[in-house]
Amino acid sequence: MAGAGRRSARSRASSSRDDDDTKPNLRPPRGRGRNHTSIGIFNVDLRVLLGLSVIAFFAILFLIYNLINPIEQAQTPRVVTPFPAPKLMDLPQFQGEHKESLYWGTYRPNVYLGIRARAPRSLIAGLMWISIKDGRYVMRHVCQDSDELSKYGWEQHDGRNFGHQVIVDQDMNLATSFLKSKGEDSGYGGDWAVRLYVQNHKSKGYEELSSSAHLFFYLADEDGNALNIGGDTLGIHENSLLASGSRMDIGSWQLHLKSLDDLEVHYAGFKTPHVHNLSDLVQENLGLQVRKFGRLQLPDTSDDSPNILVFQISARTPFRTDVAFISGTGLESPRLEERVGSHTGSSLTSQLKEKQREFDAKFEKSFNLVDKLDSESIVAGKAAIGNLLGGIGYFFGQSKIAISGNMNPGNHDDSILYWPAELYTAVPSRPFFPRGFLWDEGFHQLLVWRWDIHISLDIIGHWLDLMNIDGWIPREQILGAEALSKVPSDYVVQIPTNGNPPALLLALNDLVHGVKINKFTAAETDAISSFLERAFVRLEAWFQWFNTTQSGKEVGSYYWHGRDHTTTRELNPKTLTSGLDDYPRASHPSEDERHVDLRCWMLLAADCMHSIAELFEKENKSGKEYGNKVKLLSDFEILNQMHYDDAYGTYLDFGNHTEKVRLVWKETTVGHNYATRELVREVLESPKLGLVPHIGPVSLFPFIARIIPADSRILEKQLDLISNRSILWTKFGLRSLAKTSSLYMKYNTEHDAPYWRGPIWMNMNYMILSSLHHYSGVDGPYREKARTIYEDLRGNLIRNVVQNYHKNGFFREQYDQRNGKGKGARVFNGWTSLVLLIMAEAYPS
Ligand SMILES: *[C@@H]1O[C@H](CO)[C@@H](O)[C@H](O)[C@H]1NC(C)=O
Ligand SMILES: *[C@@H]1O[C@H](CO)[C@@H](O)[C@H](O)[C@H]1NC(C)=O
Ligand SMILES: *[C@@H]1O[C@H](CO)[C@@H](O)[C@H](O)[C@H]1NC(C)=O
Ligand SMILES: *[C@@H]1O[C@H](CO)[C@@H](O)[C@H](O)[C@H]1NC(C)=O
Ligand SMILES: *[C@@H]1O[C@H](CO)[C@@H](O)[C@H](O)[C@H]1NC(C)=O
Repeated sequence: MAGAGRRSARSRASSSRDDDDTKPNLRPPRGRGRNHTSIGIFNVDLRVLLGLSVIAFFAILFLIYNLINPIEQAQTPRVVTPFPAPKLMDLPQFQGEHKESLYWGTYRPNVYLGIRARAPRSLIAGLMWISIKDGRYVMRHVCQDSDELSKYGWEQHDGRNFGHQVIVDQDMNLATSFLKSKGEDSGYGGDWAVRLYVQNHKSKGYEELSSSAHLFFYLADEDGNALNIGGDTLGIHENSLLASGSRMDIGSWQLHLKSLDDLEVHYAGFKTPHVHNLSDLVQENLGLQVRKFGRLQLPDTSDDSPNILVFQISARTPFRTDVAFISGTGLESPRLEERVGSHTGSSLTSQLKEKQREFDAKFEKSFNLVDKLDSESIVAGKAAIGNLLGGIGYFFGQSKIAISGNMNPGNHDDSILYWPAELYTAVPSRPFFPRGFLWDEGFHQLLVWRWDIHISLDIIGHWLDLMNIDGWIPREQILGAEALSKVPSDYVVQIPTNGNPPALLLALNDLVHGVKINKFTAAETDAISSFLERAFVRLEAWFQWFNTTQSGKEVGSYYWHGRDHTTTRELNPKTLTSGLDDYPRASHPSEDERHVDLRCWMLLAADCMHSIAELFEKENKSGKEYGNKVKLLSDFEILNQMHYDDAYGTYLDFGNHTEKVRLVWKETTVGHNYATRELVREVLESPKLGLVPHIGPVSLFPFIARIIPADSRILEKQLDLISNRSILWTKFGLRSLAKTSSLYMKYNTEHDAPYWRGPIWMNMNYMILSSLHHYSGVDGPYREKARTIYEDLRGNLIRNVVQNYHKNGFFREQYDQRNGKGKGARVFNGWTSLVLLIMAEAYPS
């Protein structure tokens, strides 16, 4: 459908907004993200505020109008009708103890430290602090690259009860630890504690006076319940109580603050439903105090019945403070003091140490790195899994869905809301993509199931429950105000004719295989089996969705539907659905196309379905059908006929294509006399049907899918292609497009910088590496060659990512193929964390 593919697989717009290091002026305007916290404190423009309230008022009117509009209520459009089958999340394995054990967590990945429960409306907690930039105070709260922190992220995190994060913000070193525990008196979900430790690292070794730091710890009740402010005075030495309250889910609760250091504590209380932009509120409040009284401290006042309490903790560095959240019955009992004690001070210290040891032991047991790698790599490996698990979030809200495929960006008139849904998921990047992305999640789960199968099933279950009656799953999940505040409005609407690779099947395939070879404990096997049994009908629908909506003209051929065939602005119309956004395909999108990557995804899907059917010994009709599909899609002759090009020695897409295209400036007149210039595509030769000569990961999909027989000359050619420095090979990993391709590193429009046209991406490198590993283990004439290339590529990928991490503090979205430098979104853990599986040599079965 025309225009259906305007939105990116991972909101490319957000990404190109990022620090494309070399081209700072080419960023499209920022979306609605409230990204510049530095504006807030000292200048509050009331007119802007008033304007915003007016807009909000009409937005609410509009919403109410839509809600009560009887016609829309009467007939639920098909596209927003849930898949009619029992939900995975209703399985017994996800109730009871399991559910409670995951109730509280660091499930707000978009902020530097944020805690909430897995409930649509929760009590939430978080941290802000004041930093100084260019002589101005700035507030830190929401993770954003523009804050330019030199480092942050979970160096360890177990996804459940423990995490340790280190943040370096200019001279300030801030460590945040999280610990959760369940005692017999605890309320539902248990108690938790946060330890904050602040140091000023520059003052070490200098005679300077240590400076002071201001932290802001807050609690907010999304249900609007009033919170009580602690004792009469906040003299925390005698009375550690900061706040208390009561909720339906957990009963009564208290928040305590303990420290041995000399702290000053101030507070402010607010009553507002807007929690997502709380830092703005705090900044305004502080700004007012500064202007009125010249002091940087909260006013110690509160709105009536506040649902948000913010506590300012100020002290000279270094200092340490513990915040304990205690819930449940018995808050009046003498045991209370004991419970607070065990969540603070030396008791907390020893529990954190114990958890740290447990994490290290589990890490070693799961990935076995000690004899394989140096300690620098192991530290990075821990951060890879720690950041992935610590980035897991919980979201609740409604996606926006296009009802006609023909949407113009910014035109939301013909969009409707998906049903209200929960999503528990890992995220690609806390600052840039702090929300769920369908195909990324498949790669995330390759790591997560190896750490904690129950968390992994819970996440996959949430995703499969988002399926509609047609077997479609929206690929980018922007649920709730917090998630929305990070996405430019043009990129919010999801298009129901567009797919995204069914990468979750990679993880499920591993699980099926693991069950078959008795890899798991009895309890794990039970959990996986009952999950798969219930999931089967959804997975079938998913398969059918691809099989019917993405099929090509020839039997057994597929192509990504939704490419824009009318655009004149793009050098090569993007294929966002494939996940490889601007990776070049046929120059002229048409129904004749055949995409070799999608064909291989379909093989994976059929194979996975076949294995599941086998597992249940259901060699019934449907099992056989998938078996036949596997035979068809892995048929070497048919594959070669459809996609192989002997001259290039590789597999290529097929379509209506010409290489002779370029972007040229064209003058256009708007109205009578206003002239403007735009970059448009010029086609210098009429396109012809044929194979599309762009080489990259897409060409290697049959190799990735292991269709090529081990003794085939074609395998040798693939190995030559991979290891050729003029084509894909670099010292840092494999390029995402051959250096010899006509579109290598080419801008797609004036503003669209090359994305999948050269830089090194970890997920594709991981998949290619896993096949090299496979072919170096099966008999054949090219075994040794595969082994050598495998070892070199593995070494290069590990070395480069580890070096970047230690040098620059982050895992990145991509790595520059020319110098190995990390670029794109930071804290991309995210599929860049797959480097840990590369260290462990753990590959898909
Ligand atoms: C927070 O956002 C809401 C609307 O989403 C707006 O009405 C409110 O004014 C904002 N608050 C601040 C302090 O910016
Ligand atoms: C997929 O589509 C093809 C062609 O329409 C059809 O023959 C086949 O039965 C479908 N399903 C499977 C599992 O192959
Ligand atoms: C085949 O087995 C699957 C897996 O349990 C089941 O869902 C499906 O209904 C069965 N189909 C037939 C035709 O019996
Ligand atoms: C290829 O594209 C050109 C330009 O859009 C079109 O005129 C031609 O008919 C197409 N060829 C085929 C075989 O679809
Ligand atoms: C690598 O590829 C280039 C470009 O296709 C080719 O000229 C060269 O011979 C290849 N080198 C090797 C070692 O195969």
